[in-house]
Amino acid sequence: MSTDFQGFTVVISGAGSGIGLAVSKKLKAQGATVFGLDLNAGELESSGAGTWVQCDIGSDESVTQAFATISSKVSKIDVLINNAGIGAQGGVEAATTEEWNKVLNINVIGTSRVSAAALPLLRKSTDAAIVNTCSVVATVGLPKRAIYSASKGAILSLTLAMAADLLPEKIRVNCVNPGTAETPWIGRLLSQASDPAKERAALEARQPMGRLVSADEVANAIIYLAHPGQKSTTGTVLAVDGGLHSLNLPK
Ligand SMILES: NC(=O)c1ccc[n+]([C@@H]2O[C@H](COP(=O)([O-])OP(=O)(O)OC[C@H]3O[C@@H](n4cnc5c(N)ncnc54)[C@H](O)[C@@H]3O)[C@@H](O)[C@H]2O)c1
Repeated sequence: MSTDFQGFTVVISGAGSGIGLAVSKKLKAQGATVFGLDLNAGELESSGAGTWVQCDIGSDESVTQAFATISSKVSKIDVLINNAGIGAQGGVEAATTEEWNKVLNINVIGTSRVSAAALPLLRKSTDAAIVNTCSVVATVGLPKRAIYSASKGAILSLTLAMAADLLPEKIRVNCVNPGTAETPWIGRLLSQASDPAKERAALEARQPMGRLVSADEVANAIIYLAHPGQKSTTGTVLAVDGGLHSLNLPK
């Protein structure tokens, strides 16, 4: 087992479940000290992957409080993974102003708010990196995902803008774009469908590889981008989508 993240402090939002939990476990196993910002502890502490810091990334006050807690325990942050996010279904006619505000506040402003709060401690690291969890919906149109897609498109652009702003300080910023991934998120989506088995088959068929992406595959891509060996990698968008956004194969 590699110890490449020995001595690293990593902060991961949405670390209690799914992709964030998978990253937390892998980084902990490679030597990192992990702080997970999440509404709920989920499995973070019970799995031994990290310390839960209760936080709503949609709230300035909550994020300020969370980083006060973290800075009382560590003197630097090496890696920030902005992974927490929420979904929304439907086209623009179904989209209410309230839902727009909620999703943009958590997904987009939350990414900015947490990054800004982390920067003073990231500046103390010689290996600082930020990785944002974006989505395939930022680069390909999928039906009935208007608000969610717009929020992820904004995260992609924000990733590039932050990479430009922070390059002089050698803080790298990249994002991953997962395709439909096997996490509790998809379990919730399927439970709302009138025929969950049929819906699942449709989601699998939409992936060129005919299967969902695993949380571990996304975690591996995040860790690649966060790795101190990737000093020349900034402002990149790494797809982990089984070819969904880039391939058009014969049926
Ligand atoms: N699962 C997929 O198919 C898929 C595909 C592409 C992108 N993504 C993205 O991956 C990220 C993680 O999703 P997942 O599939 O692991 O979902 P998940 O539901 O398993 O985990 C999300 C975690 O984020 C936390 N969270 C939600 N709102 C929060 C808030 N306001 N403050 C703090 N924590 C909050 C939840 O409590 C949960 O622990 C999300 O940004 C999502 O948009 C997921």
